[in-house]
Formats: sequence, structure tokens, C-alpha cells
Amino acid sequence: MNNLREELNTNVAALTDRLGATPRSIARDWFARHAFLGPASTNQDTHDLPFQRWYRFKEAFAPRAVVDAFSKLERIPRSCIDPFGGSGTTALTAQFLGIRPTTVEVNPFLADLIEAKLQSYDPQSLLASYSQILDFVSSNTTEPWADLASAPKTMVAPGVNGRWIYSAEVAERILAYRGAIEALSNPAHARLFRVLLGSTLVELSNVIISGKGRRYRSGWERRIVHPTQVGRALQAAFLNALEDVVRFGDRPCRDYSLLRGDARTALCEAAETDFALFSPPYPNSFDYTDIYNIELWMLGYLKTADDNRRLRTATLRSHVQVKRSFNAVASSPVLDRTMADLIARRAEMWDKNIPDMVRAYFDDLVTILTALHGKIATDGSVMMVVGDSRYAGVAIDVGRILVELARDIGFDLVDLSSMRSMRSSAQQGGTYDLDETLVHLIKR
Ligand SMILES: C[S@@+](CC[C@H](N)C(=O)[O-])C[C@H]1O[C@@H](n2cnc3c(N)ncnc32)[C@H](O)[C@@H]1O
Repeated sequence: MNNLREELNTNVAALTDRLGATPRSIARDWFARHAFLGPASTNQDTHDLPFQRWYRFKEAFAPRAVVDAFSKLERIPRSCIDPFGGSGTTALTAQFLGIRPTTVEVNPFLADLIEAKLQSYDPQSLLASYSQILDFVSSNTTEPWADLASAPKTMVAPGVNGRWIYSAEVAERILAYRGAIEALSNPAHARLFRVLLGSTLVELSNVIISGKGRRYRSGWERRIVHPTQVGRALQAAFLNALEDVVRFGDRPCRDYSLLRGDARTALCEAAETDFALFSPPYPNSFDYTDIYNIELWMLGYLKTADDNRRLRTATLRSHVQVKRSFNAVASSPVLDRTMADLIARRAEMWDKNIPDMVRAYFDDLVTILTALHGKIATDGSVMMVVGDSRYAGVAIDVGRILVELARDIGFDLVDLSSMRSMRSSAQQGGTYDLDETLVHLIKR
């Protein structure tokens, strides 16, 4: 732990010195709050880290992974891009180091989370907006119930088969706060408060997020959530956010570009950049839209079943839960051998589309790498954190396949290094035998 802390401090000092980023002490103070509890490719180190503590994004990597990545480069980039923004770790860390970030995110709640962190605020006017919300909520006349008409029926009591996520009173109070937030005239403030309300929703609900999905809390039937807890939870979230904004608002770079939408098409709008760092969804059938359903419906990002479908089909083809085309042409020696093995064992899989989804996954990443090739200067680097999967005993070596595909696009391999071992699903043994790898490529 002491070694890790020293290494992080040394890397941050070297980066801020090389960049001449001012004020440096802000970056150093922020990184000083970084914990060292787990691998850098997980978010275990960020529970108390300003900004990252606003919302527990399970799939995030730690800011120190971003520092490590920048430190590996011969030349520190002036700008960087992350096509799979998630909770905005790459972009926020880049701002602290004085590097201008661009990021893309398809999930509108997560895109708001990213932008809420990256934008600048005047703390006094944020306080004024908060008091406007409190005034509005006590005399609220908005009626957002209609927006929940197409939401999963379990969202609000009486739910389905005696199970529900919120009592009617708690849901009503959440929607009242949402109405008050929507009434704010400052869109940046509305975005921040919407995100903060979003950060309270799981805690106020009868479910928890675990493994690959949601499940009901044990004893949830006896758990009483009082509607007044909504206001208290929002206030606690706001006070944390206000503290972070006041202490760390003056970051060396306050600029950013956020592209909202599907990176497979949105990347063409990105400006040229020096470096790309990202972690795409893994081909493990984890459906991100499903996991963030509560925030998406309760905050009004989804209003109809069609909205839901559109969003799910705009995500990378890393899951089979939504019906769509898995047409794909990506081909490389390791991919083709893996495909032959997967197809031979299709009958043993829990979904017969899994082999086609796997080729489609690589097809989508070829689209991303091709777009990045067009945006990055010659000799510019791309670093990806990718994770392997296994279906019916057939291992998918994502790192090696991507190296082969990237070579055809015009990238050479600099380094392929293991970050950690991940646990496979219970059907696949449940042991820690899936590799998570950092792939470092350089543009020819
Ligand atoms: C592994 S997470 C990235 C986490 C991020 N590195 C962080 O630290 O927060 C992958 C992200 O890709 C997003 N995503 C999935 N398909 C996408 C697409 N087609 N375009 C843009 N983003 C997409 C998901 O919504 C998810 O937020």
C-alpha cells in the first residue's frame, strides 16, 4: 500500500510537472484521497474520492489506472478520448492533470453523470437552486406519474406478484423532487441535481445491484422507507457534491467535450486527439441498460418501451438480451478458431445467439478502432482494458483477438499486460480464471 501510494504520488508529480499544469496542488490533494484496496481496473479505491463518490458505478476503473496509463507514454498527451465514458473516470482524471478530455457515452443518465462532474459551478448559485428545489417540492403541482406508465410494473407498489421496488409514497416523493429539479432554469444545475437524485435511488429502493443484476434485499418486505428519507438522502448527496465542487472546482483543465450517443457513430464528430484510453463493455452478456433501469425510468430518461429498446440497441453488441441483428464480418486467426469452437457447442449455451454475438462484439470494436485510427496522430497510443469471457467451456481471448484485428486497421502492439483475474460465472466454474488485460497499441 505504501509503495502504491508512493508510486501514485511520484507519477502525479511527474505528470503535473511535465505538463506545467497549474494549480498542481489541487491534483495532488485529490489523488491524496485515493485508496488502495483493490486492482486499478476496479472502482474499489474510490468510495470516498471526491466526485467519484457521487455515484457508485460498479464498472469503473480507478483514477490511478488513468495516471498509470499516462505515465507509460513517452510524450504526455495534450488531449485524450474515452469512447466508453461510463462514470467519466478518464475524463475527470485528465482534467485534474491538465489534459483536455473528450468522452462518449450512450446511456443518458451516465452521460449526465459525466457532465455533472466535468462542468464548473458557482457554489452560491448552486445553493440558490437547491433552495428553489425545496420551495418547489413543498408546493409541487407537476404530475410525472404518466411517464412511469410504460416502466416495468415492479417499479411501484402493488408491483407484480407482491414484489415492488418503491412504495407509492416513496415513488411520489422521488417524482416530486424530479419535478422540482426539472423546473430549474439553469440546465447545468438541473443536470447535477438529477444525477444526485439518481445517486439516492438504489439506497431508497427494495433492491440492491449485485453480480449481473438487481435482486431484492433480504427482508425487504419488513423494511420501511419513509418518504422523508428522499429529501434527506438528496441533501446528503448535495452537501458532498458541494464540498467537492468548492474544493476541487479549480482544476487545471475545466474544458471538455461530451458526445452523447452510440460511439460506433458518434466518434466521427470527435476532434483529433493525442491518445485514447477506455474500457469497453466485456462480451459477458452484461446488459448495462437493464442494470441502470431504475435511474433511467425514475428520472424520466426513458418514457416509453420504444425509448428503452432504442437505447438497448444503441449499446455495443456485448449481450444477447435484446433482439437485434448480429451480422458481422470481423475475422482474425484466433477469432475464427474461437468462433468454430463456439458454434460447435452452440447447443450447450443458454442462448443460441451467443456465438453470433461474440463475432458482432469484435465487429463493433473494429468500428471503434477504425474511427480512433482516423482521429489519433501517427505514433499516438490507444490503451484498452478488456476482459475475457467463456461460454460452454470455450475461452474468448479478447486481448489477443483485438491485437490481430487492430494490426489490420493500422495499429502495432506495444504491450499486452495482465491487470487481474476475474471470476467466471457459476456455470463456467465460478473460479478466478478470466483475464483482464491492458492492451497498448500505437498508430503506424
Ligand atoms: C466498462 S464501462 C466504462 C467505465 C469507465 N471506464 C469508468 O471508469 O467509469 C462501459 C461503458 O460503455 C457504455 N457503452 C456501451 N455501449 C456503448 C456505445 N455503443 N457507445 C458509447 N458507450 C457505450 C456503457 O453504458 C458503459 O457506461
